[in-house]
Amino acid sequence: MMPTSNSITYQLVAWLAAVAVVCYLLNNIWNITTQASSLSAIPNAHFSAPYSRLWLLYLKATETEHHARERAHRRLGPIIQIAPKELSVNCIENGVKTIYSGGFEKGEWYKGFVNYGKSFLFGIGPNKLHAERKRMLFPMFSNSYVQTSSEVTKILDTILLERLIPQMKMWALNQSVVDIHRENKAAMMDITTAYLFGLGNQTNFLLDPKEKNKLTLFEQAVSALFWMTELPTLVKLCYLLRIPLLSTEVLTSFQSIETMVAEVCDRTKQSLLETKKPHTSLYAQLQEKLEPTLAGPDLDPSVAAEMMDNIQAGHEGPAITVTYVMCELSRNFEVLSRLRLELSSLDAHPTAQDIESLPFLDAVLLETLRRYPAALGPFPRNVPLKGSNLGGFDIPGGTIVSASIYCLHNNSAVFPNPERWLPDRWIAASAEQRKSMNKWLWAFGTGSRMCIGSHLAIRMMKTFIVAVYSEFDTVIVPETSFKQTYGLIGAPVDNKVMLGIRKQM
Ligand code: HEM
Repeated sequence: MMPTSNSITYQLVAWLAAVAVVCYLLNNIWNITTQASSLSAIPNAHFSAPYSRLWLLYLKATETEHHARERAHRRLGPIIQIAPKELSVNCIENGVKTIYSGGFEKGEWYKGFVNYGKSFLFGIGPNKLHAERKRMLFPMFSNSYVQTSSEVTKILDTILLERLIPQMKMWALNQSVVDIHRENKAAMMDITTAYLFGLGNQTNFLLDPKEKNKLTLFEQAVSALFWMTELPTLVKLCYLLRIPLLSTEVLTSFQSIETMVAEVCDRTKQSLLETKKPHTSLYAQLQEKLEPTLAGPDLDPSVAAEMMDNIQAGHEGPAITVTYVMCELSRNFEVLSRLRLELSSLDAHPTAQDIESLPFLDAVLLETLRRYPAALGPFPRNVPLKGSNLGGFDIPGGTIVSASIYCLHNNSAVFPNPERWLPDRWIAASAEQRKSMNKWLWAFGTGSRMCIGSHLAIRMMKTFIVAVYSEFDTVIVPETSFKQTYGLIGAPVDNKVMLGIRKQM
């Protein structure tokens, strides 16, 4: 029987597919062998690290990566191989400084960070594009703006003094036990949205229970971070084949957040049109700066994409940090009394500068950022094509390198007894020790890609602590758990911390 033209076509396609698979495998083997030999001088954190990424993926999926990296660094030194083209770095000179302050670019891993189909500051790869976007945003995040802006003061007064403190008075009166982490997230969400969209356009998560429920959407989105960043193709494939890798709630949480943020953007746009006054909000400023290059249908989603990222980063990190400040102050009475003594020197309406000049408050915050980092990373970077030298090893271009913030903060040579929360270590340190501690404290990152919101975050958190601990005590209750997760984000386990609220004795 003669073959039909259909069967010839199928055979041809099958052959082409087989050749493509063989080429792909050969290319992979070639890459792994050449890369393995170029990285062969570097100690392996696991025997499989030069050949497969499975070990690293397993650690990430089980949130044990940071502890495993720490153990491996202690055994093998500051530069170790953790996957075929991937190194973990745990030294500042010739390591973290070279990578993060040396302009190594963000690569493939960040491609999943897209809102409304648009990239935003955190996810932009090329340095040039990143610098352009950063120039547009930076003026409103600079320390001088954050410290001196009367608008920021008004925002903090409105959300903290008019919304949070009256709530706390009620809880204290009723001797309530509260999920303080949820309330802190609500407070930080309202502050962040007021900052991004202007007072009047902000959310009301603190007082409106229906709005507060939307926090669950953000928690669901964070719970999917591992899958979305490490295995995006698998997520798409499972979705298409209707395999329930991620629950429908998790998969739809991204769209629901996009809808929520788009609504706030529309509301703000409308109020801008109505008032016709120049607006200082980040939304208005970015809109104005992007308009000349991004007119048309791309403008609104590009601005909204940036807002959505800032909303996520702006509420989560500060909330995690103040939650752990509250936990520790609830069980460290000596620290609390020292802090109170310092706070008693403030008048009823302290300025940002008054608050900024309190050394013990600063120490409490620094130690919490160190001991309970809200963002643990790792935030990977690509070695430039010309290659680099890290920790004495020549590293080929294209290698992925990163540091774990958990490992950096647990260096016992710099922070003795690193597992203990000791604010006094920042006060008692010599000038030399303090310099070294500042270098190893990496809570906000360093270099051109460091956290753009760090000054704002510090002002939010310090003002929050002053407002709360000038009036209230927090107490540990049987349900209190300090347990932290160790993924990319270091939220409390189950996103929950129960504390009792009492009027100050
Ligand atoms: C305790 C609070 C916070 C912590 C610990 C934190 C931590 C970090 C870290 C470690 C990075 C660097 C990531 C990298 O190197 O790839 C980062 C970047 C970033 N953060 Fe924060 N953050 C906090 C608060 C905020 C706030 C309040 C905002 C804005 C309202 C914000 C917005 C951003 C943005 C937009 C980036 C990307 C910067 C860039 O790529 O140029 N963060 N953050």
